[in-house]
Amino acid sequence: MNNKLENAINDQINFEIESAHIYLAMQSYISTLGLEGFENWMGVQYQEELFHAKTMIAYLNERGGRVNIRGFADPENEFKSLLDVFETSLAHELKVTARINNIMTIAHEVKDYAAISFFQWFVDEQVEEEDSFGKMIDKIKLVKDSGLYLLDKEAQVRVFTEPVVK
Ligand code: FEO
Repeated sequence: MNNKLENAINDQINFEIESAHIYLAMQSYISTLGLEGFENWMGVQYQEELFHAKTMIAYLNERGGRVNIRGFADPENEFKSLLDVFETSLAHELKVTARINNIMTIAHEVKDYAAISFFQWFVDEQVEEEDSFGKMIDKIKLVKDSGLYLLDKEAQVRVFTEPVVK
């Protein structure tokens, strides 16, 4: 595999693991608010990020690349509110999207059609990721504190179902 592409995928593997840690810290903050549904919701997000990382690791191995796991900075553990958590999450997902798009740009540059095919799933996944955080922000703003209890019940039913990538 092209070296620049391999490095970009390695960077993303580590960013996905870092994303999982960021959401785990957010889940812990949410638990202090007593919102068990949102705590569940963010726990599912944590699992999704680990799934993204594991899927990319398996792919890089399959393509004969070398996976390099690295460390990263401590995640933010303190937030102003539930809304702050979700707005911070959406900003993070926009960064993920930019990075996935960059991998796609490199894959096109080096004409790695297999990588283009594989990462198309992540391009589509990012549309869903941004949408799910964006919708939650809209709902939190809409219900304010009085409706948070009902929204918490809705967040409680989110489950992690391992997607089929290819
Ligand atoms: Fe793995 Fe939320 O992007």
